Amino acid sequence: MKNRKGILLAGGSGSRLHPVTKIVSKQILPLYDKPMIYYSISILMMAGIREILIISTPRDINFFENLFGDGSSFGITLNYAIQEEPKGIAQALIIAEKFVGSSSMALMLGDNFFYGNNLEEILISSSKKNISTIFAYEVKDPTRYGIISCNKNGVPNKISEKPKKPESNFAVTGLYFFENQAIKVAKSLNPSNRGELEITDVNKYFLKKKKLNVQYLSRGFAWLDTGTFESFFEASQLIRTIENRQGIKIGCLEEISLNKGWISKSKIKLIIKSLGKSTYVDYLKKIVSK
Ligand code: DAU
Repeated sequence: MKNRKGILLAGGSGSRLHPVTKIVSKQILPLYDKPMIYYSISILMMAGIREILIISTPRDINFFENLFGDGSSFGITLNYAIQEEPKGIAQALIIAEKFVGSSSMALMLGDNFFYGNNLEEILISSSKKNISTIFAYEVKDPTRYGIISCNKNGVPNKISEKPKKPESNFAVTGLYFFENQAIKVAKSLNPSNRGELEITDVNKYFLKKKKLNVQYLSRGFAWLDTGTFESFFEASQLIRTIENRQGIKIGCLEEISLNKGWISKSKIKLIIKSLGKSTYVDYLKKIVSK
């Protein structure tokens, strides 16, 4: 089986964070001590994915390229592509067609934050499956998300995008493991009422074909989409609390890469020399001294 490739969608207008996002991409803004996009890249890396395409707006793509370069500092390969206009999450699959080739893929939204016990194991095992997987998480306000519901035997049978009368409280989160066919499915879609190619329609297709695995993330997990000031702040607070209490870092890309055996300690030492004096650098120093 070919290696799964990663697609990181980090575009959109960020209008819910105006005026903060008037001149800069929201995925560059810090969630506590790292740019937001670090956390979503870390999810793909934890899943074992080393080839990633970052998709963003014509205005913002250079920020990401300047931040990460070719990805070699993190033992991964990064490519970049532009989404001219935010015409839907499923459009990312079409933009990524050439990059993906005949591989399977993981699509990750750059504003989604996941944290919890055994997350890495869950990601790796879902990535190994040869059917598509979505990740569901119980939320208080299901009208804001794609929602998955089950029949009376507990079998998932319906997905709806921001339903007015939700049939469950289980949101479909912004991480999708797809088989290659998803690109063809995305290409066959018509824009929705809001003028977008909906990722929910891709999921519906696989659900109908009984080729969709639903991985529920239990209550011990944290999942936040950081598209509003409120959730932005909540995510920062959560990261700060865990990092300060435990002395660990969430979303430290060099650490993940080192643990995967993708980069060496001497490489991290070089990175340390090129960075300033932040607590992030202190943490890297701690890792290499272990
Ligand atoms: O966060 C999970 C939810 O993401 C799912 O539950 C929904 O099913 C899914 O449709 C999506 O919900 P939203 O409609 O709220 O997504 P939003 O428009 O906020 O876009 C999510 C991120 O993707 C955001 O950071 C902007 C980026 N984006 C979005 C679109 C539509 C792009 O980069 N390009 C796009 O064309």
